[in-house]
Formats: sequence, structure tokens, C-alpha cells
Amino acid sequence: MTALQNATVCVTGANGGLGTAFVQAALDRGAKRVYAAARQAKDWADERVVTVDLDLADRASIERAAARLGDTTILVNNAAIFPHGDLLTAPIEDIESTIETNLVGPIVLTRALAPALRSAHGALLNVGSVLSWFAVGKAHSVSKAGFWMATNAFRLELAADGVQVLGAYLGPTDTPMQAGNDTSGMNKPADVVTAVFDALEAGEHEVLVDDLTKQVKAGLAADVTALYPALAR
Ligand SMILES: NC(=O)c1ccc[n+]([C@@H]2O[C@H](COP(=O)([O-])OP(=O)(O)OC[C@H]3O[C@@H](n4cnc5c(N)ncnc54)[C@H](OP(=O)(O)O)[C@@H]3O)[C@@H](O)[C@H]2O)c1
Repeated sequence: MTALQNATVCVTGANGGLGTAFVQAALDRGAKRVYAAARQAKDWADERVVTVDLDLADRASIERAAARLGDTTILVNNAAIFPHGDLLTAPIEDIESTIETNLVGPIVLTRALAPALRSAHGALLNVGSVLSWFAVGKAHSVSKAGFWMATNAFRLELAADGVQVLGAYLGPTDTPMQAGNDTSGMNKPADVVTAVFDALEAGEHEVLVDDLTKQVKAGLAADVTALYPALAR
């Protein structure tokens, strides 16, 4: 169980759709400081928000940011990219940068902030996806599947020190990541963040935000053709 009240929260990808909603909701729930980490800092109309430059694809940038984040009590690994090329044909650099930004960078940042989280008995909140369990996102799915397992491994490694590790999994949500798609039936960022922070404050290990995500996770236990009917003979 981790309270937002009086917490010092770091949100990566703070300028994005969900990132901004995480920053706002943390403030609404009484955080005393929110580090808004982004590649390009923007102005926030709240003196509790401190901007931090962070490029997750750049180890030196992660190191510089971590040096400023030593009093973090809740780390929200939210930033990610979603290029759409096929695994077989996209430039390999696109696949590498997806895995670097969505998986390796957050692991490096978590390692750097683990001492702070441990001493605060704080929390790690990793934003996964329905695509952690469904391959249509290609390189993004590969990175999010790895991030799911990294989240589980961090949970085991941090449990003894009283650090809560929450994995958040969600389907399509109306953010810039969905630019060009019909967003009418999608989750709203504020609703997602409410569900995720409620789960954090309730002490959960995992939160599945919507029915699609619950169905896909349940489908993992079935034959592979349950999730991919086109493969059925
Ligand atoms: N939207 C959905 O449908 C959906 C569904 C399931 C899960 N999610 C997950 O939700 C999380 C938030 O995504 P979103 O929907 O809010 O997308 P978004 O609006 O595109 O935001 C993503 C953020 O990540 C940042 N970012 C990208 N590359 C980065 C890097 N190298 N270093 C640091 N920050 C970087 C972006 O920063 P810049 O502004 O500098 O580009 C942006 O602020 C992601 O983990 C995503 O996978 C989203």
C-alpha cells in the first residue's frame, strides 16, 4: 500500500498523454513533489513540479537525471515509443531503439533509483500494455513483454525491502500515441490513471484497466490460436 499523499513521485514521459495525467493526478492526491521527466522540459503551473531532462535511450542522460532524483519515493516508468514496422523488415535500428527506450532504459533508471525506493519503502509503477501479451505491436510488443517480466523480477527483488511493485496493463487509450486512429471508444487517460493510482494506494501487484486487457491476459492460458484465430487450421 503506497500513499500519494506527501510522496515524491518521478514520472517519465511526463509530456505525453498518460504522463501528464500521472503528474496531474499525483498532485491532486497530495504529492509533495513531482519530478516531470521528459526529453524537453515544459512549463507546469504548479511549484511542486520539478522538471528533469531525461532521454531513456541515452545512458549518460539517465545517469544525470538519476543524480537529481535521489529522494524519489515512487517511480512511474511511463515513457515509451511505438514505431509500427514489422520485426522482419523494419530497420534494425528502430527495433533496437524501441527495446532501449521501452525496456533497457527503464531497467537502468530503476536500478539507479532502487536505493531511494528501498530506503523510502516506496513503490515502482511500471506502465505495461495489453500488448505485453499480444504480438500485433511487433517491436513494441516485444519490448512490453520483456517489461512485464522485468516488472515481475523487480517485484521479487524489492519485496524484502517493502517496495511495492505495480504493473499496470491497459488497452487503447486516447493519447498522442494513438494519433491518426479513431479514439472514440478508447480509454481516457484520466480514467486510466485513476484506476492505476487506486490500485497503487490499495497495495496491488497488478492492475488490468479494461476488459480487452483482461480477455487477452486470460487468453494466454489457452492454445495460441485463441489469441490468434487466423492461425487455426
Ligand atoms: N495510448 C495507448 O493506447 C496505450 C495503450 C497501452 C499502454 N500504453 C502505454 O502508456 C505509456 C504512455 O504512453 P502514452 O499513450 O501517453 O503515449 P505518448 O503520449 O506518446 O507519450 C509517450 C511519452 O514517452 C516519451 N518518450 C519517448 N521516447 C523517450 C525517450 N527516449 N526518453 C524519454 N521519454 C521518451 C515521449 O516524450 P516526447 O514527448 O519527448 O516524445 C512521450 O512524452 C507507454 O508506456 C505506453 O506504452 C499506451
